[in-house]
Amino acid sequence: KKERTLAMIKPDAVTKVGDIIQMIYDANLIVTKAKMTKLTWKQAADFYTEHQSKSFFNNLVQFVSSGPVIAMELMGDEAVSTWRKVLGPTDSGVAQKDAANSLRGQFGTDGTKNAGHGSDSLASAARELEFFFPSTTGHGPSNTA
Ligand code: CMP
Repeated sequence: KKERTLAMIKPDAVTKVGDIIQMIYDANLIVTKAKMTKLTWKQAADFYTEHQSKSFFNNLVQFVSSGPVIAMELMGDEAVSTWRKVLGPTDSGVAQKDAANSLRGQFGTDGTKNAGHGSDSLASAARELEFFFPSTTGHGPSNTA
């Protein structure tokens, strides 16, 4: 089934964008929107609101707002699960052992500095795509894609 998902390259892997886009195409996904931006602490906290009660929330928000990120809309067959498979296990240490060719296996450092993010469901994808690529109308050329 053709799906859309939100991919985010985190600050630790922005310099690897070339390799990462190659991995996206190798997985039979295409990039249909892209934006490089720097999130404020508040924006990052909003993005990760479902994790606000977790012990790692502050580290996560601090890290993701520490430098630029690249957000992309990816499209393709089973895009949500396909992209998460490209990412590999959340913990980069596990990824390095069990999925060395994955994005986190190659570019991640630990559980927080883990190079990339992918929506975990179609519902999350809808919310996260709206976060980075709001579907407002009447605002001219930048929102007509
Ligand atoms: P991400 O896919 O961006 O979505 C939630 C993030 O929470 C996840 O990547 C990790 O970076 C982070 N995370 C999840 N579990 C832990 C953990 N145990 N310790 C630190 N960070 C975590």
